[in-house]
Amino acid sequence: MTATRLVDQDRPALIFRVDGVEVPAKQGDTLLTAMLTAGLGHVRTSEFGDGGRAGFCWMGACQDCWVVVAGQGVRRACTTLVEPGIEVIRR
Ligand code: FES
Repeated sequence: MTATRLVDQDRPALIFRVDGVEVPAKQGDTLLTAMLTAGLGHVRTSEFGDGGRAGFCWMGACQDCWVVVAGQGVRRACTTLVEPGIEVIRR
C-alpha cells in the first residue's frame, strides 16, 4: 500500500531510518504515515504468511502496525510520531 500526502505539504521535513535506509518525513507524521507516503508499502510482515501489513485501524486499537524503534522497543506505527534520526526496524 502507498499513500499520497494531500495536505500539510509545508510542514518541516526530517529524515529517519527504516531497516537502515534513510526515509523522508514531515514533522508531525506518525511512523505509519511517513512510511506509507515514502512508498515503503508496508510496516511489518504478517506472521501468518499473508504478506506485508500496512495497519488496519490506524487509531491504535488493532496492533497490526507494530514496528521496533531502536532504544524504545515495540511501538504502534500509527500512534508513534516520527522523530529526526530514529531507527525503525520492520518485523
Ligand atoms: S493500525 Fe491498528 S494499532 Fe496501528
